[in-house]
Amino acid sequence: MRAIRGAFLDFVDDPWRHVGDEQAATRFFADGLLVVDDRGIIVDFGPHDEVSARHPSMDVVEISDRLILPGFIDGHIHIPQTRILGSYGEQLLPWLEKWVFPEERRYFDREYAEEGVRRFFDTLLASGTTTCQAFTTAQPVTAEVVFEEAARRNMRIITGITAIDVNAPEWFTTTADEFYAAATELIDRHHGVGRSSYAVTPRFAYGASKDLLAACGRLKAENPDVWVHTHISENPSEIRGVLQLHDDCTDYLEVYEKYGLVGPKFTGGHGVWLTDGEFRRLSAAGAAVTFCPCSNLYLGSGLFRLGRATDPEHRVLLTFGSDVGGGNRFSMLNVLEEAYKVGMLNNTQLDGSIDPSRQDAAEAERNRLSPYRAFYSVTLGGAEALRLDDKVGNFDIGKEADFVVLDGRGGPPAVRWRTGLSVGDAAPTTLEHAADLLFAIMMVGDDRAVAETWVMGERAYSRDAGDVA
Ligand code: GUN
Ligand code: ZN
Repeated sequence: MRAIRGAFLDFVDDPWRHVGDEQAATRFFADGLLVVDDRGIIVDFGPHDEVSARHPSMDVVEISDRLILPGFIDGHIHIPQTRILGSYGEQLLPWLEKWVFPEERRYFDREYAEEGVRRFFDTLLASGTTTCQAFTTAQPVTAEVVFEEAARRNMRIITGITAIDVNAPEWFTTTADEFYAAATELIDRHHGVGRSSYAVTPRFAYGASKDLLAACGRLKAENPDVWVHTHISENPSEIRGVLQLHDDCTDYLEVYEKYGLVGPKFTGGHGVWLTDGEFRRLSAAGAAVTFCPCSNLYLGSGLFRLGRATDPEHRVLLTFGSDVGGGNRFSMLNVLEEAYKVGMLNNTQLDGSIDPSRQDAAEAERNRLSPYRAFYSVTLGGAEALRLDDKVGNFDIGKEADFVVLDGRGGPPAVRWRTGLSVGDAAPTTLEHAADLLFAIMMVGDDRAVAETWVMGERAYSRDAGDVA
């Protein structure tokens, strides 16, 4: 057993359910102690003096002048797009053709995939992200390499073959039968092994024939425990294409519903143009949507309606995602920065009288991404939406000890002016101070605020050791 002593902040509830009193959803110990067993499982947590009295002889790692949070969860990221971040000039469909398919085709080669996957995990850890739900590419080799590399690093991962059989060049597509056979084998070998989980991953309805979606439905029916991960309602041209290809459906969600894919453990990425009716059905099904603000802005897809998705009438489970490389940043801190701005822009529309039915003060309030809502969304909220909240997301006893150590001084000089911290100053002593520090980090800082990242009770990244490959 070992213990980590420092200032800890995590969440015990959804701050959107505590409008006006979000602190009630938050737990903060200015001097806390986290006790971890040999397997990396949390066995005790609380104020230092109480917890240390219960464990008289233990190795204690002291982390001073920092704030410790649960590891970040990225609900939607594309592993083989690591090397095409920030590619110029296109919206979704031409961007896929010009940049994405050619690069992902290179990952059909195992060596190319291995190097890319190593770099991917190094960068993920340097960003403080310890769990992700990730896309691979159309052939199984990348998914295999990802499962192997994640296992080597003991990291929690949800992934699978990213299937596409129409609306892509012939050198990139797979067939429904090949996909079904390869996915079945990967599920047998990797799903539920260690910290790995399999997601049936049709790339998007625009790239999926009825046969491919039927194969996805069969995989989910035969393996009810697996996840389903895809894209939904990201871009207007994409949506028009989906309704032409699947002309028996009246909206985007219906395509996935028709093949038995929508329920708990379903995530649709983006959801920028989802209707209220679709939000209602997703909520009733217990399915999740990923808010990917960096990508939605970078590709010009649109403004996700955060306040509408979190309407208590039909609260949709949300993960937040980088969507690398549609998103131009790995760091969930940058994702929160852009999410905040999208929320503010939504409120400009609300205030702008474009549609009087949207003049709703409660919705405007829900669009405001407070530090509580923000950091909940990339920790416990992400875990709940991914149905992993029995394993990760906060510091409850029995969960896996993945955490990130944040340094309010890391980043550009302006973040030090904003946080008011200089070298040698103590970590925050009150929840208000901690929340303000987190807001400063997400709005003024960047991934240099990530001082250390720990996986299953072991330090996996240290900024000062320069561990990034
Ligand atoms: N829709 C289908 N494929 C992709 C992808 O790779 N990125 C994004 N952002 N949307 C998609
Ligand atoms: Zn995506």
